[in-house]
Amino acid sequence: MKKQQTGQSMDRVDGRLKVTGGARYFADHQPDGLLYAALVCSPVSSGTIKSVNATLALRAPGVVDVVSHLNAPRVPAYQESKPGAKDGLKIFKDDRIYSNGQPVAIVVANTLERAVYAASLVEVQYNQETHYTDMNASMDKAFQNSRMKDYVRGEAGAWEKAAVTHTAQYTIPLEVHNPMELAGIIAHWTTPDTLTLYAKTQGVKSVQETIQDLFKIPEQNITVHSQFVGGGFGMALRIWPLEVATILAAKKIRKPVKLVITRDQMFTLVGYRPNATQQLSIGATAEGKLTGITHEAVAITSPYEDFTEGIVAMSKFMYACPNVNTKYQLVPLNMSTPVWMRGPGEATGSFALESAIDELAHKLKMDPLQLRVINHADVDPEKNLPFSSKYLKEAYEIGAEKIGWTNRNPVPRSREEDGMLVGYGMSSGTFGAYRGKATVSATLKADGSLVLQSAASDIGPGTATAMVQIAADVTGIAPEKIKFMLGESSYPFAPEQGGSSTVSTVGSAVSDACKALQQQLATIAISNIPAFKTAAPETIIYEDGQLLTANRQEKISYEALLQQQQLPEVKVMTTSQGGPERKKYSMYSFSVHFAKVHVHPATGVVRIKHIVSVADAGTIVNAKTARSQMIGGVVGGIGMALTEEAILDHRFGRFVNNNFADYHVAVNADTPPTDVYFINKKDPYINPMGSKGMGEIALIGFAAAVANAVFNATGKRVRDLPITPDKVL
Ligand code: MOS
Repeated sequence: MKKQQTGQSMDRVDGRLKVTGGARYFADHQPDGLLYAALVCSPVSSGTIKSVNATLALRAPGVVDVVSHLNAPRVPAYQESKPGAKDGLKIFKDDRIYSNGQPVAIVVANTLERAVYAASLVEVQYNQETHYTDMNASMDKAFQNSRMKDYVRGEAGAWEKAAVTHTAQYTIPLEVHNPMELAGIIAHWTTPDTLTLYAKTQGVKSVQETIQDLFKIPEQNITVHSQFVGGGFGMALRIWPLEVATILAAKKIRKPVKLVITRDQMFTLVGYRPNATQQLSIGATAEGKLTGITHEAVAITSPYEDFTEGIVAMSKFMYACPNVNTKYQLVPLNMSTPVWMRGPGEATGSFALESAIDELAHKLKMDPLQLRVINHADVDPEKNLPFSSKYLKEAYEIGAEKIGWTNRNPVPRSREEDGMLVGYGMSSGTFGAYRGKATVSATLKADGSLVLQSAASDIGPGTATAMVQIAADVTGIAPEKIKFMLGESSYPFAPEQGGSSTVSTVGSAVSDACKALQQQLATIAISNIPAFKTAAPETIIYEDGQLLTANRQEKISYEALLQQQQLPEVKVMTTSQGGPERKKYSMYSFSVHFAKVHVHPATGVVRIKHIVSVADAGTIVNAKTARSQMIGGVVGGIGMALTEEAILDHRFGRFVNNNFADYHVAVNADTPPTDVYFINKKDPYINPMGSKGMGEIALIGFAAAVANAVFNATGKRVRDLPITPDKVL
């Protein structure tokens, strides 16, 4: 047998392209006659546009057009929208301003510099109205929609009757995804109803579908290219007004138009993690058995969309607790719409829950790890189903050993090293292990190489590499002879890269397509190769890129079969999706984060000294990219814990730190030695590989581990992220 590929640390198949500049991101494309766009954005946060004067801009050198609500092409879908429907911002439809930074015009010129200059010449006047950007001052506007029903298991509010109780408010600020690559698009209408896009997206098929719905043109008339994406973290899970604005300009001008937004526009145009306030109340017996959890969350949204996510999800099933109730409300503000940001709502919710567990443990005078273990949910208490796989207790053990948990003194502010206060903290994380529907085509060429295609996206985790490994194991074909192609809407359907589900969803389809291909080859062999004539199809053995008869006496390589039959290629297409196993099992990935921190006793500066993260994510397909994925999540978690906060000046409804100098994303210097461990045990039910998701659990819970460590170091409980020195002192 060939070496098993799954589990190996195979280098990225596109790594060389990425580090040599060979990878072409959306903005690298240069269609003939390309024009450049710049946005004019509203400096007011609520009101209407009184006038748009583009006279000066249109006179500037190289300017082709200025497009606004006054002259934009019609969007058929806008007409269908019912008044008051919360179905998104209809860019350039009318004169209404909902939030600061909302695009009001797009300027197109023959160079980028000319477009940017001309944008500064567009004179827009506004009727300004009162705006609301402060959630705390707008709590009277809180509401629930049909997707956010209250949850009650057992008795609501039971925590209050417990022997030991804890209740506190936890807040997280607004955070912004800020991937390295800026958002934007190249749009080109090659005919009045045929559109080609070079997009930055986590889903080429969903872009195609959105455009189809907006412009009412057939799917096959829309081509979306997005082979390389320079990071997303969730911001590219949907089409934004900036893309529609560019598509409208390109439609009017009938030339290809490119827009790349600026870093400060990344704060207002492509979503964000909504700031949220959570009241987490928890009660336990004197022995530490949880008796009640109440989790109530309020988060912000835009005036024109209700963005909801899983903020209270984890509290419902993480611990064996008979009484749990949750509430989740939204406050609409004069802000653009939030969007899932890595870990999404579960990252927000886990900060409250996993901090509260630590606080309760302290009151109980119990080790917080022990408290988690004695309340471990052996079955899913929310769905009342067994877990498809769950190795959380093993993860706790590994993490505790590797961080040196026994060095933790339960008494806060009791240890020092090099003049710094020392603390240890931990937390758990979890996220649904999903599997969606995807189609993959598999083409075996006469030279024995295998080409797989699916309209999946890759925002960086190494999708193609993992797919090659999965295909190599099913077919026995050497990885060097397998190519996985993605990022094209013309390929067979795959969903967005989101929710930690690509390996599960697309990998299953790869696995199934490879199996179908082998069956196709067997059929060819049985009809044409004398030695296989009498073989029953189900007895054929597939091994190492060969077909074998049941007695192993006869064999033929795939390559030889095609050559003998003079077939240039054999192609199959297979659709794969999760089945009834989802009704029988609850499917989640789990993670455990341990952090050792140093806190400076005089300044309150927190330095994370050591991180251990352990993931129960099923079978690990690529040990190298999986480790990188975990470290990436941890780095995001460090930002969430210690530095990231987009600050609004509510007088203007405008961000004051919309740049990388003032909005602090964690960098190498913030990242201590990070040890990653995988349970690496197959989930028997989720998919053929046994792999659960990993992208989200890498971050979920991490901020609480740091907050808990800071408490252990200092005795100061910070319930308001980020944990900046002023809050620690
Ligand atoms: Mo992720 S927040 O599902 O891109």
